[in-house]
Amino acid sequence: MRPKVLVTRKIFDESLATVAKHCDVENNQRDIPFTPKQLLQKLRGKAGVICLLTDSISDEVLAKNPQLKIVSNVAVGYNNIDVKAATRRGVMVTNTPGVLDDTTADFTWCLILATARGVVGADRTFRSGKWKGWGLLQFLGHDVHRKTLGICGLGRIGKGVARRARGFDMRVLYTDVQRVPEAVERELGVTFVDKETLLQGSDIVTLHVPLFAETTHYIGAPELKLMKKTAILINASRGPVVDEKALVKALKEGWIAGAGLDVYEKEPKPAPGLTKLPNTVLAPHVASASIETRRKMSNMAAANCVAGLTGQRPPNLVNPEVLAQR
Ligand code: GLV
Repeated sequence: MRPKVLVTRKIFDESLATVAKHCDVENNQRDIPFTPKQLLQKLRGKAGVICLLTDSISDEVLAKNPQLKIVSNVAVGYNNIDVKAATRRGVMVTNTPGVLDDTTADFTWCLILATARGVVGADRTFRSGKWKGWGLLQFLGHDVHRKTLGICGLGRIGKGVARRARGFDMRVLYTDVQRVPEAVERELGVTFVDKETLLQGSDIVTLHVPLFAETTHYIGAPELKLMKKTAILINASRGPVVDEKALVKALKEGWIAGAGLDVYEKEPKPAPGLTKLPNTVLAPHVASASIETRRKMSNMAAANCVAGLTGQRPPNLVNPEVLAQR
């Protein structure tokens, strides 16, 4: 019998076709996330699920679907899945690492430049017809070149951001749970510092840590108070890495100069007051959204799912312990 697979949201047709070669596929054509109740109901009898980061695959969901063999996330981050519970229950979890690093690093730079130079507000003014012509003191932002960039989390995306900083002649600090080898530091031109030093010394702080319990509210009121008043904060990692309420307060009261965000604590809702702040650039979680990259992510998730359901090792298995248990 062909295994049954649920695809919870829209993915590329070619990826659906790949899965359909080996499995019976039910997919959500509406591209609106299932409610938790709908998800439970739709998962009934499915051996695999291809899901997005908007789907919460909790221990309860896994417990109610003991037939599930693989959860294939179309994202590199997998904080929407209870991986510990999946491992305990023998369910494979896969993600889509690697293919979105450069695209996300590019977008991080979009946010850095757009926030530092106020390009979104300037665009809004121009479109509204309120611009009355050039003036010396209008739309003044801050330079980015030759400033200090602080990267929190020097993984694949953080490294991509560092590489791009070379063109801007920047001093680049980084902090992480582990120092990268000296040769990598040299190649990237980055200096390891502790979190406090980074926050105090950077003109731009950019976050690239994964979301775990330990990194929830990695940036809160105490950290925002350490930053320079002229600094900007960039977050293209996961929303809960920043205490968004504290950030709104910091921006309102001038503890820092601005923020460029792609992710939010309670997506799709912003914290109260956030959208009213002029010193922000707010993107709707689009850092990996280039057509090339999203296509690769979609195809990778399909390949992971098919591999897991046809007796092969999925190429991007997050919890290989599951195979050892067999
Ligand atoms: C996107 O946010 C991802 O984790 O892939």
